[in-house]
Amino acid sequence: MTLTLTTTSVEQTRTLGTALASLLVPGVVVVAAGGLGAGKTAMAQGLASGLGVTDRVTSPTFTLLASHDAHNERGIRTMLHADLYRAHSGEEVDDLAIGEMVESGAVCFVEWGDRAPDVFGSERVFVTITQGQDQDERTISIANHSTVITDQDLHRVLGAWVR
Ligand SMILES: Nc1ncnc2c1ncn2[C@@H]1O[C@H](COP(=O)(O)OP(=O)(O)OP(=O)(O)O)[C@@H](O)[C@H]1O
Ligand SMILES: [Mg+2]
Repeated sequence: MTLTLTTTSVEQTRTLGTALASLLVPGVVVVAAGGLGAGKTAMAQGLASGLGVTDRVTSPTFTLLASHDAHNERGIRTMLHADLYRAHSGEEVDDLAIGEMVESGAVCFVEWGDRAPDVFGSERVFVTITQGQDQDERTISIANHSTVITDQDLHRVLGAWVR
């Protein structure tokens, strides 16, 4: 199922990320696509806040992958945050071993994840952010390709954002 949502401020995109976090369980990878300045990091920040991450979350552009301790009732102890903008090859992305890490209980948010969508295991949620008509407007599509998040739950938590 794909939901198409609209936000009109960076705060709303963060809040949307926090709402999405409430659906995550260990093993899920959020594969985020969207151009420079689309709002991927903003959504990652909201997601982090919903997972009880207290670190400041920025784009891990120069390291490709950052790991944050998380504290929440769903047993997610680690939020990985990847940014593949500067990844040179699929092999380099493979070497990050994101699939293995989420299998042992982490979740991951991957900026520019559409560059290597198939290396993250099977529990994926695809997020695509595009610029809307106004400067602060974004169209955000969320496609659930996981078996652990039901379409019903996705609709319950995010349905209010559908315009
Ligand atoms: N509705 C909105 N949602 C998200 N960000 C918005 C929105 N409106 C304006 N912005 C602005 O757009 C920018 C989004 O920046 P952000 O770093 O999150 O983008 P990004 O997709 O991670 O880019 P990059 O590919 O460079 O990492 C911020 O400056 C933010 O204030
Ligand atoms: Mg970013």
